[in-house]
Amino acid sequence: MESSLIQLVNFQLHGDARGKLSVAEVGGALPFAVRRIYWIYGTKPGVSRGFHAHKKLNQLCVCIAGSLRIRLFDGTNEDDVTLNEMNVGLKIPPRIWHEMHDLSPDCVLIVFAESEYDESDYIRDRKQFIRYVVG
Ligand code: TYD
Repeated sequence: MESSLIQLVNFQLHGDARGKLSVAEVGGALPFAVRRIYWIYGTKPGVSRGFHAHKKLNQLCVCIAGSLRIRLFDGTNEDDVTLNEMNVGLKIPPRIWHEMHDLSPDCVLIVFAESEYDESDYIRDRKQFIRYVVG
């Protein structure tokens, strides 16, 4: 189920008798030039991550193994999406609070980010986030 909060992208898929190959490139499925890539894996059972928003950063994440549920919140509306397909990405724009839940033990989430790591771009307090976006 896709809402305006949940912005999914389908990657170009090249499948043949050997198997599959997916592509994300600028001008195609990637809406920005990537300056940083990180990946989340080995998450302990019952652990949730994220719980922050960014002021300016655009990100695109892909669950390339296992599954997880991502909860998005824009300060007013909240929605959940389960990622479990290697060929589908989720855009996480700035000013969206995001939480990662129910990560399977084999979950690998790769995240493409528009900018280098900058702690000053983070909002890590939900009440502060609501004040930031709603005013
Ligand atoms: P954190 O923001 O707590 O991860 P999550 O969003 O999954 O809860 O990041 C964990 C640690 O990694 C924290 O000390 C910051 C550091 N970190 C970097 O140094 N560079 C990065 O690109 C990222 C994403 C995190």
